[in-house]
Amino acid sequence: MAMRTWLTEGLDPVQAYALLAGGVGPRPIALASTCDPEGRRNLAPFSFFNAFGSRPPMVAFAPGRTRDGGLKHTSRNTVATGECVLAAVSWAMAQQMNVTSAEYPDGVDEFAKSGFSPLPAGVVRPALVAESPFQMECRLEREVDLGSGPGSGLLLICRVLAFHVREDVWTEGGLDPDRLDLVGRHGGAYYVRSSGPALFRLPRAVGQPMGYDALPQALRRSAILTGNDLGQLASAEAPPDPAGIRPRSQDPGDAPGLERAVQRALAAGDRDEAWRLAALRVRLDDA
Ligand SMILES: Cc1cc2nc3c(=O)[nH]c(=O)nc-3n(C[C@H](O)[C@H](O)[C@H](O)COP(=O)(O)O)c2cc1C
Repeated sequence: MAMRTWLTEGLDPVQAYALLAGGVGPRPIALASTCDPEGRRNLAPFSFFNAFGSRPPMVAFAPGRTRDGGLKHTSRNTVATGECVLAAVSWAMAQQMNVTSAEYPDGVDEFAKSGFSPLPAGVVRPALVAESPFQMECRLEREVDLGSGPGSGLLLICRVLAFHVREDVWTEGGLDPDRLDLVGRHGGAYYVRSSGPALFRLPRAVGQPMGYDALPQALRRSAILTGNDLGQLASAEAPPDPAGIRPRSQDPGDAPGLERAVQRALAAGDRDEAWRLAALRVRLDDA
């Protein structure tokens, strides 16, 4: 497939932003609650945000510069006070979160504008957001200036001092993604909701998977098996011993039929059965 390529030297910053925002996604959203030195509250969303280490727990977000190259209230407050609360945004919060992103003048409290409820935090001065299912009280560790013009960011690297998790999203000793129902940001006005059928499980590969390069040619050449199918087969540590492969009466006898049967077994989560069928498929070529 043909590809479009942009070299960034001389690239229009608006285009660069559109490429980054559209391609680096979906991004988590931090609703950053801060205070100015007088204690006046500020709240705004940031999706140039992620977690970067757990010992100590470290997160970072990047408020960009304003059109005149100045700093947004959130960066000014975080740098001035060294503190912020970063609250995750659930689907139920999306519309109010959007209100907080408006460019209000100095001193306007976006809690009041959005209707979100401030709650006292335990360790830092900025308020928690009562509606958020997951929040972090943070201390600014380091700021990294990423440029001086409009659109360039100030990366704020923060240490998490306290986590807060709403009781109903904590199940079986962990965060339940379906109940958290977080939203992620794509490019333009697009968002994604991460619950229900959007969620899928992908347990980590164990040990040393055999890898794609060890798959028999007959499987790699298949026009039916997809990259996801081959990835699942390749995540086994070793193919089954051919001596132990027993055909069953209902097994298809032709290559496409066997490959579709492999695919069905993988879709049902039965990789051993998929490999039994895959071995029968390989045997057809060897015969
Ligand atoms: C979902 C979402 C994500 C955003 N992410 C960022 C971001 O990562 N960096 C940024 O500078 N602005 C981001 N914005 C825009 C800011 O929220 C906006 O400029 C806001 O007015 C900043 O407020 P402040 O001046 O009170 O800090 C985002 C807006 C939305 C709706």
